[in-house]
Amino acid sequence: MVGQRQSTNRMQPTQNVGTRRNQEGLNLVAKRLDGKAIASQVRSEIAEKAIKFLAREGMKPHLAAVLVGDDPASQIYVKNKRLACEKTGLESSLHLLPATTSQSNLLETVERLNADPSVNGILVQFPLPKSCSEREVVLAIDPLKDVDAFHPYTVGLIVDGTPRFLPCTPAGIQQILIREKIETAGKEVVIVGRSHLVGRPLSIMLSQKGPHADATVTVCHSRTPNLEQHCRRADILIAAIGRPEAITGSMIKPGAVVIDVGINRLADGRVVGDVEFESAVQVASAITPVPGGVGPMTIAMLLENTLKAAALQHGEKFN
Ligand code: GUN
Repeated sequence: MVGQRQSTNRMQPTQNVGTRRNQEGLNLVAKRLDGKAIASQVRSEIAEKAIKFLAREGMKPHLAAVLVGDDPASQIYVKNKRLACEKTGLESSLHLLPATTSQSNLLETVERLNADPSVNGILVQFPLPKSCSEREVVLAIDPLKDVDAFHPYTVGLIVDGTPRFLPCTPAGIQQILIREKIETAGKEVVIVGRSHLVGRPLSIMLSQKGPHADATVTVCHSRTPNLEQHCRRADILIAAIGRPEAITGSMIKPGAVVIDVGINRLADGRVVGDVEFESAVQVASAITPVPGGVGPMTIAMLLENTLKAAALQHGEKFN
């Protein structure tokens, strides 16, 4: 499935039944799918399109980020998204609200951004303080500015097979597969995790008819018996459960492609994925590292959605 392989003479963990060896008896380890490099490529393509958009329309595509409260992780996420906009030639604005903000205050902010023609995309960073309903906020965002692709109208278009915006993490995963020339048609894809953010939309996208899809998709979740058996059937295994190193090498079919969506910080400060990298890398043919795999792609796809939103709002086609 993935041509380029690296060899190593590292010893494999003894319990790892799927370790692959070449003719000389050396262990074969998986190719690292470099999401950071792919994201950088995607961002430079967006930057070129943003320059052309500015020349045509006299404005930069504009992402408005709404941050409620002072959650440190959310502050970093929003800062990184705004930085990425700046580097790519997109406009960004930050709309800060205190943690004590009422729901109606937050909805007023969203309505104001909906009505502002200089704003093309709206991102309300989650989680919100308990006093605010994320569902109500998602419903309030104009679907034409829904660059997170969370609105039920946007999701409906995806299910319908006529997507407008794709959710950023699933779109980033699909881009990794496309750009690494990993075929999905006819493949067994197993997604572990059924979240609205990743697992569910990705299952719809990859099972759809058409290019970069056409897969046979299984979605596993907390009530799935025999998780290991499902995982071991996968040609492409996607881990999106938010549990550190829950998927181990013994759960992976030799030669499978493994996409790790997890970003988990351990007590000792290490950041690990949902896949145990050390054992998985001995069995898979290709794997996304954490960090540096899916994570960077998510922001790149948010920029892409903002550019697309701007184009659509100006009556342009987008491809
Ligand atoms: N919080 C964690 N991930 C996301 C995301 O993709 N979008 C928004 N709006 N909030 C988040």
